[in-house]
Amino acid sequence: MQKFSHAIVRKPCRALAEGISSGLYPGKPDYELACRQHDAYIQALRECGVDVMVLPADERYPDSCFVEDPAVLTRRCAIITNPGALSRNGEKEGILEAVRQFYPEDKIERILPPGTLEGGDVMMAGDHFFVGKSARTNAEGIRQFQEILEKYGMTCTEVELEKVLHLKTGVNYLENDILLTAGEFVDKQEFISYHRIVIPEEEAYAANCIWVNDTVIIPEGYPAVLDAVRSCGYRTLTVDTSEFRKLDGGLSCLSLRF
Ligand code: GLY
Repeated sequence: MQKFSHAIVRKPCRALAEGISSGLYPGKPDYELACRQHDAYIQALRECGVDVMVLPADERYPDSCFVEDPAVLTRRCAIITNPGALSRNGEKEGILEAVRQFYPEDKIERILPPGTLEGGDVMMAGDHFFVGKSARTNAEGIRQFQEILEKYGMTCTEVELEKVLHLKTGVNYLENDILLTAGEFVDKQEFISYHRIVIPEEEAYAANCIWVNDTVIIPEGYPAVLDAVRSCGYRTLTVDTSEFRKLDGGLSCLSLRF
């Protein structure tokens, strides 16, 4: 099924090593290696049949390659978010410029202060969205997000986060009612009606896979997840994300797919 025809990515910047990190995956990212991994990621998206818009590196924002956070793109509207991380808040203006090339002005909405919301906390499952209440996404941001979705005939469920950075750090939708879940999301009531693939703790990072037009892109080095996804019948591609992982970034964080 061809669901996504476009993706937006932003090249990593040299300041990448100064990006926000929880320290869960130690080390500083190597810029040159990160660029090579990013090129391979773009290639994987193209192999899945999407046209990729590659934005230039933005040295003002070390985390700016994680374009998923400053916007949420739906089939009916675009939502420019208000990132809760102060050092990332300005990323929303650069992404707005790119989004304007795909959505008319009257279909571009905004999350406004005091609301905060990051796209990493938003998981799309058809026209229903799950949104994580986290250190980056607050109650007012979720209220505004819900109001915008309702205006376009879409719905959402709030999910309280306990430990992880973003909702999609630990749960991702692979279409066909299938979810990849790890850690605190394995038994969450909100996801009980889905077929859940439970990921072992040692491979929890790979809960962040992306479904792109019937292919699932999986981070390299997670054999249990690769097997589990393949056994659901998906074509798979793997991409090494070691340098982005050091900043708690995963495959979904690196693109907007729409
Ligand atoms: N380093 C990604 C983030 O914390 O937003």
